Amino acid sequence: MIALDEAHLLNIAVAAEWQNQGIGRAFLAHMIGVAQSAGCQIIYLEVRPSNVCARHLYRTVGFQQIAIRPDYYPALHGREDALFLGLTL
Ligand SMILES: CC(C)(COP(=O)(O)OP(=O)(O)OC[C@H]1O[C@@H](n2cnc3c(N)ncnc32)[C@H](O)[C@@H]1OP(=O)(O)O)[C@@H](O)C(=O)NCCC(=O)NCCS
Repeated sequence: MIALDEAHLLNIAVAAEWQNQGIGRAFLAHMIGVAQSAGCQIIYLEVRPSNVCARHLYRTVGFQQIAIRPDYYPALHGREDALFLGLTL
């Protein structure tokens, strides 16, 4: 989702049988390119603290934590916070 000079990555998912083969990293790089081409200055996303794979991916691409959104996601028992990350383009 692009609004003015900000992009927000709302969802990214790779089918389970295709994970850990570089598709997510390539797709993320593509979306960063789309945001840059649209003139965006920053790209935001949320991720669960428990999602170690996605957090590794975002950290190695250069995303940094901006804030925590309390009780953002439904979880098995109650709710789970979201880490709010940003990448300056
Ligand atoms: C997150 C997701 C999109 C990544 O897609 P992918 O195609 O598996 O990602 P890639 O193969 O490009 O990269 C995965 C990276 O995570 C690493 N990784 C995998 N499992 C890991 C784990 N348990 N702990 C830490 N790192 C892990 C891999 O080693 C790889 O890093 P590397 O390139 O430095 O070796 C995919 O796991 C997915 O669809 N998950 C379910 C939906 C989801 O959680 N989406 C994100 C919501 S914020």
